[in-house]
Amino acid sequence: MPLELCRTASEFRAACDRVRASGRRLGLVPTMGALHAGHVALVTEARRRADDAAVTIFVNPTQFGPTEDFAKYPRTLESDLAKCEAAGAALVFAPEAGEMYPAGERTRVRVEGLTAHFCGRSRPGHFEGVTTIVAKLFAVAGACTAVFGRKDYQQLKVIQRMTRDLLLPVEVVGFPTVREPDGLALSSRNAYLSADDRARALVLSRSLGAAVRRFDAGERAAGALRLPVQEALCAVGLAPDYVTLGDSETLEPIGDDAEVGDRALLALAVRVGGARLIDNVVLGEDAAPGASP
Ligand code: PAF
Repeated sequence: MPLELCRTASEFRAACDRVRASGRRLGLVPTMGALHAGHVALVTEARRRADDAAVTIFVNPTQFGPTEDFAKYPRTLESDLAKCEAAGAALVFAPEAGEMYPAGERTRVRVEGLTAHFCGRSRPGHFEGVTTIVAKLFAVAGACTAVFGRKDYQQLKVIQRMTRDLLLPVEVVGFPTVREPDGLALSSRNAYLSADDRARALVLSRSLGAAVRRFDAGERAAGALRLPVQEALCAVGLAPDYVTLGDSETLEPIGDDAEVGDRALLALAVRVGGARLIDNVVLGEDAAPGASP
């Protein structure tokens, strides 16, 4: 089936309705474009869980802060469409900003609690922008299974909570982080890295991998799991926004003096050259990412 490109919400709604009317289940992959192999894996997962996959491509202005990279965020629609077609997607929704934020709009969707720490602390307003746009995309797409990457673990948890709280007819599932062979998590923002920055960025996955190995060897002291990650970043001249250990469901931070239980989220954000990168592992669940140092 050839890929169908929808530019308006009403076209996309009608196309999604047609999928369901023909007895097929819809899989949805919301993205901001600049698609890479991680996004392609999400489309493949959506097709595995549903019959037809729809990809949304929209660089959402409300989730960027005033000093962030909205203007320079890569916009590569032609090659994105080719990747969607090659991945077997049936639909792409690529609206203009005025379609998603009609003139005079005054509505925002906010999830409390889960957004208080990790990226919510260092990017005020970010998750309100994310939940607002994702609620709109879900409202247009209707009943479906939506697939999100676990690299944005906090985003996944926030969207799952929003979907539950707003009674939306969407099953929200997470898919494991896709990495380069040397461990670097795939991200559209990796395009901003120079060769030197890219080499330095390997410390993210390697230090998280070392934490997984300490946890798997029996370490449960929060500080002994978290602090070496922070020190590894600082040792290569990086100044992290945060390196935080927290409950993997409530996202409440765990202090360095506490003990962790069977599972815990260890997540970080750090600027490397021109890119703000994030990465995470769920201790007790994820295998160690990255090649050994
Ligand atoms: O993860 C992303 O690419 C974005 O935050 C999302 C979920 C598409 C909302 O704009």
